[in-house]
Amino acid sequence: MIAVVASWNSPPQNPTLDIGSIHVWRVSLAQTQSCLQSLQQTLSTDEQTKAERFHFPKDRSQFIVSRGALRAILSRYLHINPSLLRFDCNPYGKPSIIASQNGDTLRFNLSHSRGITLIAITKNRDIGIDIEGINPKFPCLEIAEKFFTPLESHVLRSLSEHLQPTAFFTCWTRKEAYIKAVGKGLSIPLNQFEVSLVPGEPAALLNIEGNPEEASRWSLIELIPSSDMVGAIAVELCCWKLHCWQWTGEF
Ligand SMILES: CC(C)(COP(=O)(O)OP(=O)(O)OC[C@H]1O[C@@H](n2cnc3c(N)ncnc32)[C@H](O)[C@@H]1OP(=O)(O)O)[C@@H](O)C(=O)NCCC(=O)NCCS
Repeated sequence: MIAVVASWNSPPQNPTLDIGSIHVWRVSLAQTQSCLQSLQQTLSTDEQTKAERFHFPKDRSQFIVSRGALRAILSRYLHINPSLLRFDCNPYGKPSIIASQNGDTLRFNLSHSRGITLIAITKNRDIGIDIEGINPKFPCLEIAEKFFTPLESHVLRSLSEHLQPTAFFTCWTRKEAYIKAVGKGLSIPLNQFEVSLVPGEPAALLNIEGNPEEASRWSLIELIPSSDMVGAIAVELCCWKLHCWQWTGEF
């Protein structure tokens, strides 16, 4: 439950995950043409078809980098060729590695925003990640009234105006990280659980449907992907150790 300002290190070639470790990989979606071509070759037929459907070349190449980097990174843990990795999706769209390839029971989740993808990986525990760019012109109070709990809205309103956008997006990413960890997406109402949101205060899942004990099974971890962005990880762990790697375009 501690706030973390991430520093992004060079990754090991053969990363290992202990129980309780969380690895976060930061992928820049702007890669060289040769990297893009190599990544494209690792995508499945379905992914290649999806890539071709993007109207704008930038969206197409970002999709290819994001999927290709996910394959390249997971293959380092599983020692399976990136192009051979196969994924399942739950009914709400949360992807996972198919059981027969996942003896190590890796769980992962990812989020994209402003030209980067963050991929969070852990072992045997549900995990969700969300990142958002801070938009200072966003109608924070109005949207908070609609989606946050009365207490969260009240806390947001009580902050000085210049802090409200950061607090709003902090709250939003914490909520999204939790629903992505559970895997049920926006079918879980965002006002069904409460999170901390005051900038500078520790990230915390305060209660789920009013129950703080249920919330205590989870940790919320603050991530700062860059100076104009906020992010959060939700993980079903009380004690954890975080490692943050910058993906350098290598397989
Ligand atoms: C999951 C969700 C919160 C993502 O929010 P977002 O902020 O727009 O997007 P992000 O960049 O943070 O995350 C996107 C990634 O989350 C993952 N994801 C998708 N559905 C997910 C889910 N239910 N739970 C966790 N992760 C999910 C995917 O890896 C996706 O990556 P992709 O776009 O490359 O496929 C939102 O799309 C959602 O609620 N989806 C559920 C939709 C649903 O209920 N569908 C029913 C079946 S059709």
